[in-house]
Amino acid sequence: QSEESQTILEAHQWLAKLYHHLLRNSKEGQDAYQYLLNRGFTEETIKKYQIGYSPNSKDFVVTFLEKKGFHPQTMVKAGLLSVNDQGEYADRFRGRVIFPLRNHLGKTVAFAGRAQGNQEPKYLNSPETELFQKGKLLYNFDQARSAIRKQKSVVLFEGYVDVISADQSGVNHAVGTMGTSISQTQANLLKRYVDQVIICYDGDQPGVEAAAKAAKLMKNTGCQAFVARVPDGLDPDDFIQKYGGDRFQKEVIATSETYMTFMMSYLRRDYNLQIEGDRIAYIESVVQEIATLDRAVERDYYLNELAKEFEVSIETLREEVHGIQRQSG
Ligand code: UTP
Ligand code: MN
Ligand code: MN
Ligand code: MN
Ligand code: MN
Repeated sequence: QSEESQTILEAHQWLAKLYHHLLRNSKEGQDAYQYLLNRGFTEETIKKYQIGYSPNSKDFVVTFLEKKGFHPQTMVKAGLLSVNDQGEYADRFRGRVIFPLRNHLGKTVAFAGRAQGNQEPKYLNSPETELFQKGKLLYNFDQARSAIRKQKSVVLFEGYVDVISADQSGVNHAVGTMGTSISQTQANLLKRYVDQVIICYDGDQPGVEAAAKAAKLMKNTGCQAFVARVPDGLDPDDFIQKYGGDRFQKEVIATSETYMTFMMSYLRRDYNLQIEGDRIAYIESVVQEIATLDRAVERDYYLNELAKEFEVSIETLREEVHGIQRQSG
């Protein structure tokens, strides 16, 4: 690791502490603190996640970093400061609630700043640096690691707040992809720890689409993938705030669907099953998916479901599967 990376790392540790301190102890931080309490975060949670606040001032953080001996140029490179045409530096995250992003070693390598109102973007993240690549980091992996090992399972969320809210209500094996796209690198990282992944994305159209993609990726990476469904229009955190953590565990996490059960209902959306041609096309698309399952019992189980629902013979469906498997070698 370069000397500069070391410096950037140190600056992040200092700033994470400062932001957290300002949230809890400064007058400017009061609204942000109240905002978090209103969202249902406990003090303990705010500490555990070292949530902070960056005051709405251009030079407060600039001055702080300078006093600590950090060069503003380096801090721009670190994504902590911004610089304008006049060469004036400013805190990139000013006026935002701060979520430190830690790598798997527990070191803060980036920040996400949430707007308190409806400003865009809602979350301003650090730019990609030598230390931080969005596609390589899993939010909260460092703190969830032991729970993940113990439970032999991990729950994957798309939002910071979903992870925190889930953890606070007892789902401790929670990590986040920071948005709806999950990379092969992140999938590989999870595969090293668990064989079972529960995907719990937002209950909106993009969330469901992304869950299908993520489930497929995890399955192809050799994990058993499950999809936990949040009712339409809510995200996991909304659900927890509305119905409580117990119901979240019982009605969302514990009832997550297997990859194939999820796919069978997901694929339906492309077809009108009242129409004969569509019914057949749907059956074929499901059979295509079933053919990718590793275990024969599993394949037979779902073929049977399909056979019952559409009154086709299981022998025919089995033949289809064999045909597909021969073709793909
Ligand atoms: P969501 O839009 O679902 O936000 O984005 P959220 O997590 O529910 O946030 P709250 O509850 O409104 O505070 C999911 C995730 O996508 C990334 C963040 O990681 C966010 O948690 N995201 C979203 C960004 O990085 N930038 C954005 O502007 C929006
Ligand atoms: Mn979302
Ligand atoms: Mn959301
Ligand atoms: Mn939202
Ligand atoms: Mn949310």
